[in-house]
Amino acid sequence: MPGDKSISHRALILGALATGRTTIRGLAPGGDCRSTMACLAALGVRIDAGADPDGGPAWHVEGRGLGGLAAPSSPLDAGNSGTTARLLMGVLAGHGFPATLVGDASLSRRPMRRVAEPLALMGARVETTSGCLPATVEGGRLHGIAYQAPVPSAQVKSAVLLAGLHADGVTAVVEPQPTRDHTERAMAAFGADVSVAAGRMTVRGWRALASADIAVPGDLSSAAFWAAAAAAIPGAAVTIQGVGVNPTRTAFLRVLERMGAGVRVQAVDGSGGEPRGSVTVSHEGLRHVEIQPSEVPGLIDELPALAALATHGGGLAVTGAGELRVKESDRIAALVAGLRALGADVDEYDDGFSVSGARRLLGGVADAAGDHRLAMAFAVAALGAEGDSRIRGAESVSVSYPGFFDTLERLCR
Ligand code: S3P
Repeated sequence: MPGDKSISHRALILGALATGRTTIRGLAPGGDCRSTMACLAALGVRIDAGADPDGGPAWHVEGRGLGGLAAPSSPLDAGNSGTTARLLMGVLAGHGFPATLVGDASLSRRPMRRVAEPLALMGARVETTSGCLPATVEGGRLHGIAYQAPVPSAQVKSAVLLAGLHADGVTAVVEPQPTRDHTERAMAAFGADVSVAAGRMTVRGWRALASADIAVPGDLSSAAFWAAAAAAIPGAAVTIQGVGVNPTRTAFLRVLERMGAGVRVQAVDGSGGEPRGSVTVSHEGLRHVEIQPSEVPGLIDELPALAALATHGGGLAVTGAGELRVKESDRIAALVAGLRALGADVDEYDDGFSVSGARRLLGGVADAAGDHRLAMAFAVAALGAEGDSRIRGAESVSVSYPGFFDTLERLCR
């Protein structure tokens, strides 16, 4: 699998803020992490392709120390990547120069106030464009806050904690529901004074970070499409090796089990506080499943894969997932439209959708709306169709999984 995107962004950013040279193996290859690398380079960070001590490919990040980034000479382009934009807003809040973040058309529609507000409470000046990008952040002397996040978002939590590295005193974040904890784990691996207790994350500011040697595990959210395909197709089984099995990312595996799939997880090792293992998923039959609102933050990125699986049989109902409307696309509207175009019986709700597993797809033309996870989901759905299917905007997979269609072809042979 390609390296985990979420973990890769954090390794690059914390490497840039550390003292000394960080080595990263298995960095995510897609456009999103390239955007983070380009933004960091524009902030004066040297990032080179090189080798790890065993001669394998690796990236080296020359850290500039906390508060040590340089003012960029032009706007920072986060491309399609919400993680790049939001996490860097947190970092920029700790620096005393103005910097403007821009993004592509999709990212420019996504909400940034959720990050701007807590950063302003900490003492930064943040100007958004009606709550979206372009946004200009001018950091100053930050002070720690105790922030009760209104939305369950790892990106919001991470932005506040990254700003907290540059704040006087202690910064705390409490989430309404638990979200992926890669920032907390990576901060600990880089030697930050970070702690987690009873759903409250705290970091003490101005503690120098040490460089680290990080091996990024494979991306479980990308692997979710192979897991869904294996669960969908009678006789199929797939083993995904070397993939991240951080418990804040594995909720969809439990949903696969509820849907009737065979799932086996073996954790083998880990690096940077992130467990890595091997996941085997096999088709054993398909049942209808309802996903409760409380489950949604733990499987937000896997809902398109689960919806695709449900078109093969069983069915799925999801509520409490309004956040899907502010992802790389309006993932409720575009998912429903695309699955319908392939022949599925789907209903759209304000905060979710349902898929009936009773109707075999005919195939058709589905529009991924420029959204990588929808392109991959439609491909998995199309495997069960009687006729051929075409996916518009399939090239969008390049932001997270450039080799997706090559691997699909290999698995289908
Ligand atoms: C991510 C957090 C999630 C997720 C996104 C990656 C991260 O977004 O959907 O793909 O790396 O922190 P939110 O934090 O906005 O829910």
